[in-house]
Amino acid sequence: MEIREVGVVGCGLMGSGIAQVTATAGFPTLVVEASQELCDRGIENISKRLKRLVEKKSLSAEQQSAIQGRLRATTDLSKLSACDLVIEAILENLEVKNKLWRSLDGVLRPEAICASNTSSVSITQMMMATRRPERFLGMHFFNPVPVMELVELVKTLATDPEVYEAAVEFTRKLGKTPVHTFDRPGFIVNRLLVPYLLDAIRALEEGVGSITDIDRSMKLGCGHPMGPFILMDFIGLDTVYYIANVLFDEFREGRFAPPGLLKRLVVAGWLGRKSGKGFYDYSDPNAPKPLDQSVRL
Ligand code: 3HC
Repeated sequence: MEIREVGVVGCGLMGSGIAQVTATAGFPTLVVEASQELCDRGIENISKRLKRLVEKKSLSAEQQSAIQGRLRATTDLSKLSACDLVIEAILENLEVKNKLWRSLDGVLRPEAICASNTSSVSITQMMMATRRPERFLGMHFFNPVPVMELVELVKTLATDPEVYEAAVEFTRKLGKTPVHTFDRPGFIVNRLLVPYLLDAIRALEEGVGSITDIDRSMKLGCGHPMGPFILMDFIGLDTVYYIANVLFDEFREGRFAPPGLLKRLVVAGWLGRKSGKGFYDYSDPNAPKPLDQSVRL
């Protein structure tokens, strides 16, 4: 079961990162987006990142053009019919994802493998929207995809062991490290990471330390690349909130319950870096300014 051609549905932050990595690893990659404008924007973002790698001399100009030559974008789902593996990286919403999977099921070859990059939607519920649950698995990449080495490979009750093995091999060919996990909310990383992030908010609410000091503590005291507030802003507060709710719905334990401050920030549209403001204000991207804690948060 060899994977030769790859399809990536969704070319936002995660999808464009995944497409960059698959094309860089030598796989012809077809990206599908909802409009031509989104196709152009996704491909443009990949080109910019590749160009930066050339400027840093991590990549030659020839390699850059070979990678770009392996990337195509379309708005037409039926073009995915030649792909051996399709990775979905669209909105985190079961209904929207299952609508896509039902359409893809009619387009893809019977032997094609289906993978979702979801961080929080049930893989089992998605596989049931297709007539090929045994060829379905989760492939969870991390942000920024070109840099982060891990891919969680999520097995369901139905995943064929040969399909799973093909995904393991493919992940290694991308230069990433696969870990094996099962279809449980949060898989491994978010199951452990999200309660830690939520606890940082509770520590802030209890006055244990300021945003800056909590971030500095975890960075310098534990060697984390980012403190919890900078990391939440980086992930997106809406995403953290969504995953926390999925975990809380499943486990009903206080450690997974999203704190009120997180909810208020999300409702206010302060979603972190992507909206310009979250726990920090990014008006000057080189010097993020923490929320003013002299007002009641
Ligand atoms: N895309 C591509 N490359 C990027 C990048 C991006 N968005 N951001 C940084 N990089 C590259 C840089 O080009 C640089 O490459 P080089 O070493 O070849 O020069 C390298 O990463 C390091 O970047 P910087 O020197 O600019 O900055 P840092 O050393 O601070 O690293 C970071 C940036 C890699 C983002 C680092 O801070 C980090 O690892 N942060 C933690 C990220 C993390 O935890 N991600 C997981 C989030 S959870 C998740 O994704 C799961 C989801 O389900 C919620």
